[in-house]
Amino acid sequence: MANNIKISTNKHAPQAMCIIHKRCFDRFWNESYFRSLLHNNNYKIFTASDKNLVGFLVILAVKDFAEIITLAINPEKRRLGIASKLLKEAIKWLSHNQFSQLTLEVSDENFPAQELYKSLGFSEAGRRKDYYNLNGKLIDGLVYFRKI
Ligand SMILES: CC(C)(COP(=O)(O)OP(=O)(O)OC[C@H]1O[C@@H](n2cnc3c(N)ncnc32)[C@H](O)[C@@H]1OP(=O)(O)O)[C@@H](O)C(=O)NCCC(=O)NCCS
Repeated sequence: MANNIKISTNKHAPQAMCIIHKRCFDRFWNESYFRSLLHNNNYKIFTASDKNLVGFLVILAVKDFAEIITLAINPEKRRLGIASKLLKEAIKWLSHNQFSQLTLEVSDENFPAQELYKSLGFSEAGRRKDYYNLNGKLIDGLVYFRKI
């Protein structure tokens, strides 16, 4: 389980984040993009580590608007409750900082992520038709929402 996992908001390793992101997404972000996020105060980054970085969550948090920009867990460390732990910490932080809602977008075909978000009280708030283009295959994007 995720008992030995430490969640932090101040331990950032753009290179390790980039490696995990690449293992999680077809369209991954490069290291310099992670560096730019880390230097932008509009983004709040939560990391999960045992001895090493195992996953992270990036939230765009501006005024009363909060949106999950990405969430990635190392494939070997999945189904241990790490994403749930990251999201619960983020929700606590948003609550302490007077945010009232959290939104995100997830591919219509990303069943694991949809199950994760639903298990934490998110619900579907909209659908963006043909939002993703994966090598010519068009996939809807689902907008999820949760009150804080
Ligand atoms: C989606 C993702 C973040 C889940 O991370 P995780 O740490 O494995 O999730 P958790 O262990 O906290 O799972 C919590 C709950 O979510 C649901 N869930 C997670 N993965 C699931 C899967 N593969 N199938 C079905 N339900 C799943 C379950 O309800 C699970 O609870 P349970 O294990 O007690 O059944 C991870 O699979 C990942 O990084 N995927 C690739 C990147 C991605 O899709 N990011 C989200 C983009 S919106």
